[in-house]
Amino acid sequence: MKKAKLFIDEKEVYEFPVQVDNMKGISLDIRNLRKDTGMITYDPGFGNTGSCQSAVTFLDGEKGILQYRGYAIEDLVEKCDFVEVAFLLVHGSLPNKKERYKYQELLNNHSMIHADMMDFFRGYPDHAHPMSILSAMVVSLSAFYPEIDLDEDPEAQMDLTVTRLLSKMRTIAAFTYRKLNGMDFVNPSYKYSYCANFLNMMFSSPVRDYTPNPVHVKAINKLLILHADHEQNCSTTAVRLIGSSEASLYAAVSAGICALWGPKHGGANQAVIEMLEKIRDDGITVDEAIRKAQDKDDPFKLMGFGHRVYKTYDPRAKIARKLCREVLDDLGKSDELLDIAIDLEQQALKNEYFIERNLYPNIDFYTGIIFRAMGIPTNMYTVMFALGRLPGWIAHYLEWHHDPYEKIGRPRQHYIGPTPKQVVPLEER
Ligand code: ACO
Repeated sequence: MKKAKLFIDEKEVYEFPVQVDNMKGISLDIRNLRKDTGMITYDPGFGNTGSCQSAVTFLDGEKGILQYRGYAIEDLVEKCDFVEVAFLLVHGSLPNKKERYKYQELLNNHSMIHADMMDFFRGYPDHAHPMSILSAMVVSLSAFYPEIDLDEDPEAQMDLTVTRLLSKMRTIAAFTYRKLNGMDFVNPSYKYSYCANFLNMMFSSPVRDYTPNPVHVKAINKLLILHADHEQNCSTTAVRLIGSSEASLYAAVSAGICALWGPKHGGANQAVIEMLEKIRDDGITVDEAIRKAQDKDDPFKLMGFGHRVYKTYDPRAKIARKLCREVLDDLGKSDELLDIAIDLEQQALKNEYFIERNLYPNIDFYTGIIFRAMGIPTNMYTVMFALGRLPGWIAHYLEWHHDPYEKIGRPRQHYIGPTPKQVVPLEER
């Protein structure tokens, strides 16, 4: 095994084992650093910290490569539907025909939510953000579908919890939309596939016939696959961290939903559309927007641009950009927001500021335009992202659960507070 040496003031103080992973990635094993030397590492944002070993997803941000369980994202989007990819992430291999059929049946069997949970929906104000309802409803599932009974077969119990969550979160997402729009709930139906079922629960109406548009069903499948996992991102790290305290899967996923909500993460898809609308409505030119995004005194940022890991074009954004055209062409629609987005992208990719910092469109830059074309409202975009990311979160939770090196997550800190002082009694202050 190779070793790396740490020198301080030219004095060798430590020797690290060097690990090489399956894709030739190199890491220094610092697990015993504090124990052996008293020192810790300082890495805000964990940009250089490997927090676990993982076999779920491979990502090369320099080359723009994304693979789930060894399969390229481009291949999965072309040849699989979302349920197959969810199975792949959760179980580690693609399902055969029999497994696929059985999985669909299981998901159908567990798609309803407890009748008492309906009352929770009614209590939310109509202006609530759907992500707040989604996270609360998901953690509430733990009250209705309690913890694993370790006297029973724990693996089978965990399988049941996973299936329930995959199926019920889709129902919760659709019910959230209906509640916020003052509509009665539409129950899931055996007639439909996973994504068609979701669209039916969202859009079916008692006063007009509704059949999910096959182009929309295909597009939703692709979008959910694109979102399904992204290795140790902010929300997945939240899921793993909550899971590391041995909290339930529902609690960990609810925390993941909260982490995803922020505009620097999954909330960016909503923020992109709001930015494009602002550019259109305020008559801001594309040149002006690009200038504003570079001005450190201006809070305006080019939402949907930049990524912690990708230093080239996000491979998911490439697929989403193409899909955006396909969906709009099928509907025979144009969208002025797409025209603004393409203009922004072209200008930014030629601009020195964006080139120097390797800022390219990320997945969120085009997905909002697709959701919008399908009639999904802006505040639901991050919910769509959460639905897609769910199998990834589950896969990481389970991986942590089976990890022999599993430990509760507990980083250290570089303390910059006051040095010790004495309390002056209240009467003397
Ligand atoms: N517009 C303008 N400037 C940007 C942008 C942007 N969208 N993104 C990064 N920069 C600049 C930063 O100001 C910084 O400039 P500096 O070196 O002069 O200080 C430099 O590029 C590096 O950016 P950081 O913020 O340090 O990069 P980090 O890896 O911490 O952040 C992030 C990545 C959060 C995604 C950031 O690029 C961003 O806020 N983008 C917009 C929000 C967004 O689209 N989020 C979705 C990400 S994808 C996902 O989570 C699904």
